[in-house]
Amino acid sequence: MAEVRTRIVIVGAGPAGLLLSHLLHLEGIESIVVDARTREDVESTIRAGILEQGTVELLVTSGASDGVLIDGARHDGIELRVDGVGHRIDFADLVGRGVWLYPQHEVLRDLIAARLRDGGDIRFETTVDDVLDPDSARPCVRARHNGEPIDIVAELVVGADGSHSVVRRAITDPSATGYFREYPFAWFGILCKAPPSAPELIYSSSERGFALISQRSATVQRMYLQCDPELDPTAMSDNQIWDELQARVAGTELREGPIFQRDVLRFRSFVASRLRRGRVLLVGDAAHTVPPTGAKGMNLAVADVLMLADAVRGLFAGEGEGLLDAYAERALQRVWRAQHFSWWMTSMLHAAPDATEFDTRRRLAELDTLTASRAGRSYLAEAYTGWPLPGRERCSG
Ligand code: DHB
Repeated sequence: MAEVRTRIVIVGAGPAGLLLSHLLHLEGIESIVVDARTREDVESTIRAGILEQGTVELLVTSGASDGVLIDGARHDGIELRVDGVGHRIDFADLVGRGVWLYPQHEVLRDLIAARLRDGGDIRFETTVDDVLDPDSARPCVRARHNGEPIDIVAELVVGADGSHSVVRRAITDPSATGYFREYPFAWFGILCKAPPSAPELIYSSSERGFALISQRSATVQRMYLQCDPELDPTAMSDNQIWDELQARVAGTELREGPIFQRDVLRFRSFVASRLRRGRVLLVGDAAHTVPPTGAKGMNLAVADVLMLADAVRGLFAGEGEGLLDAYAERALQRVWRAQHFSWWMTSMLHAAPDATEFDTRRRLAELDTLTASRAGRSYLAEAYTGWPLPGRERCSG
């Protein structure tokens, strides 16, 4: 069996794993990133698209990506539409911040390019089977590449391997993996070839269900429809999809075009019961999952990584292991805030299939209270654009 040694093994070449590897490199700490997927898969999988202002500042100032400033689009607000009536949430006016629309796979392309430019070690098509000796000073990742077993021995192992994390199994007790909630609806997402229909994103709650009109570029748009989690994405014709989207955003005539991708996104909230065991830690979706409504997933991963990079820097600078424990506590404070925000946006904008008339009227009153109140709109704007990142309060304030 081949054995390799490094300071940190990072499992998962998603935004969390790659950014961590990049930030550690800036501190002079080398790592190996492994991922079961091919580079092409990582760079082309369609995911979310909204970056908080603090995420953008970190990507740019750390030298990880300037593509976001070139190809990304700054958005200073969103529209909440309730039964055909639009309400702008003006981020710039309410909190003096904004967000960027820049698809996750573009962030990944930039991060991979930055790691390779700096001599980083990313091993694609390498499947992790197990994490050994998590409580020792030399934990080990047991993996396979082209059928050949390989042990990667390090001082720390980081699980950045998404919601089906293998690393998490080495940390949490199987009978108590974490805190979990499912929702009785999902999003049916499409990509289509069409120009944008509106200058900003439209989050629309209607009697027929929720719809989100997002964007990708001048010629490609991303849109979502609330649907049954069991929906077969091939079951609706293009015309049925367009009719449903048009009906749910009444008030704006959507610009239609060929639909070239369809997927169903399940809604889940999850927080792992532990983020650390000995020398093994979790970041990003491996540690937590949020439903997509508040656009928090990738941003939360970035915040975890910033905090963990600081703890690792401290550890290797001789400041002790306390920083690794503090990581879990610091990260979880933001994680639970984001859990609340994502749950709240989701519950406020979607009618559950079993909603009573009382539930519906209460929900609409909540939207009415929010949109009519500067304080209410400000909370949404603050959370959506992102709370200040630790150590960077001045940048994002
Ligand atoms: C997108 C996804 C989201 O979950 C969201 O809240 C906003 C935009 C997107 O894919 O563009």
